[in-house]
Amino acid sequence: MQTKPRPGSESIRRMMDGEERGANGLTPTPEARTASYILGILLLISLPALADEPIPPGPFTETECISCHTERDPDLIRQWREDPHSTASGVGCSSCHGERHEGSAQKSREDSTCTGCHQGPTSHSYATSKHGIITRLEEGRQDWRQPLQRGNYRTPGCSYCHLHDGDHSNTMAPDRGPEVRQWICAGCHSPRYVRELFANGRRQLEIADLKLTEGESLIASAVVDQTETLSKLLQSLNHHRHNVLLGIGHQSPDYQWWHGQPALDGDLIRIRDRILQSRRRKSLADNPEE
Ligand code: HEC
Ligand code: HEC
Ligand code: HEC
Ligand code: HEC
Ligand code: HEC
Repeated sequence: MQTKPRPGSESIRRMMDGEERGANGLTPTPEARTASYILGILLLISLPALADEPIPPGPFTETECISCHTERDPDLIRQWREDPHSTASGVGCSSCHGERHEGSAQKSREDSTCTGCHQGPTSHSYATSKHGIITRLEEGRQDWRQPLQRGNYRTPGCSYCHLHDGDHSNTMAPDRGPEVRQWICAGCHSPRYVRELFANGRRQLEIADLKLTEGESLIASAVVDQTETLSKLLQSLNHHRHNVLLGIGHQSPDYQWWHGQPALDGDLIRIRDRILQSRRRKSLADNPEE
């Protein structure tokens, strides 16, 4: 599959490049250090100018947010437009940030902003992962004032993974590739561990897809009188396949196993059972004397 280049990769790629220049990926080289001194001095000189610029408080309409921020940062608006939030679903700026500037960044980082819309299996699969469990246990200590930067949090919340560093196109979409996705996890885990997890996830999803295809072809080839029941079972197959995806994406063993693979196996058993039942009934009707 060809991967579509995403504008949002830029800021993350810059950070990854910067890191690679260091000898072990952690310590900056002398040149990088000199560069950052110079940058620091430049920043100090320019600070008063930045501080002078007033941030208007709001409230604003969606059109106002978009037009003012398009002038300031067209890339950010482009990312948002390509993200599923604006194109598919029309989720605007204020859905995540509120209508005023005060606290707008913090609001967008908090899990409750996302879970208000993404209820059901999406939130539940996160809640049943180690990340979700620790986040809940340490709720009082979670400091949402921190920017969503590498390793800034003990456990990742929704935005940490999906809008990492304020990148407005989904940073966990498969087409962002291993460079972006695995790099984000590797802020807290070893790269090898993460690589193996993703490889294992791919295999699990392939198995789930085989089960889905098997169910679909069983249903397609069956000449039966139970179309309604079978179409419900088909929905159930798709639902459980999505659970597997959420289970591996959110690292929830419950969703990979309990709500995922065995649930798919159960669907297949029920489909075969229904088809056999209908065949038996049909053959009885065709040969009543038997
Ligand atoms: C008239 C211009 C203008 C309008 C309208 C506007 N903003 Fe801003 N916004 C700014 C400026 C200036 C900043 C300062 C940071 C920067 O340079 O981007 C800012 C910063 C932000 C930040 C970052 C805050 C932080 O603490 O880092 C967010 C989030 C934001 N705006 C969201 C919105 C939303 C949502 C709307 C609509 C409800 C909106 N803005 C409307 C000018 C505007
Ligand atoms: C799905 C939720 C969501 C939507 C929709 C959304 N944002 Fe954001 N936005 C975030 C998150 C999360 C951050 C990162 C906050 C952080 O840690 O700095 C962010 C960061 C920002 C920042 C600060 C960027 C930076 O690099 O410091 C600005 C400015 C901003 N958003 C403006 C907007 C505007 C304008 C819109 C509408 C076109 C919008 N956002 C739509 C979630 C969202
Ligand atoms: C106002 C409601 C709303 C809010 C708030 C919201 N979303 Fe969404 N989101 C949607 C809708 C609607 C879609 C598109 C339909 C779908 O896939 O569920 C979507 C799509 C997504 C997708 C892509 C799903 C796919 O199929 O590829 C991700 C990932 C996502 N949202 C994460 C988040 C995160 C993280 C936050 C919090 C920062 C958030 N959303 C906030 C409504 C919302
Ligand atoms: C901000 C830090 C952070 C990020 C980013 C992060 N994790 Fe974690 N993760 C943790 C912590 C902390 C734990 C709990 C470790 C423990 O068991 O004590 C954990 C636990 C896990 C576990 C459970 C391990 C077990 O022993 O049960 C898996 C699997 C996992 N993470 C995978 C991932 C993947 C995949 C990503 C990226 C998509 C990721 N993590 C991103 C901090 C992080
Ligand atoms: C550790 C990183 C991480 C965290 C934390 C996280 N997600 Fe995800 N999320 C993923 C990955 C990876 C996927 C799988 C993407 C794929 O392969 O399609 C995913 C999938 C999704 C999807 C479904 C995409 C689809 O194709 O249907 C949605 C919606 C979503 N996440 C929203 C959320 C919400 C809401 C939260 C917080 C309650 C959250 N995520 C927390 C990494 C994360």
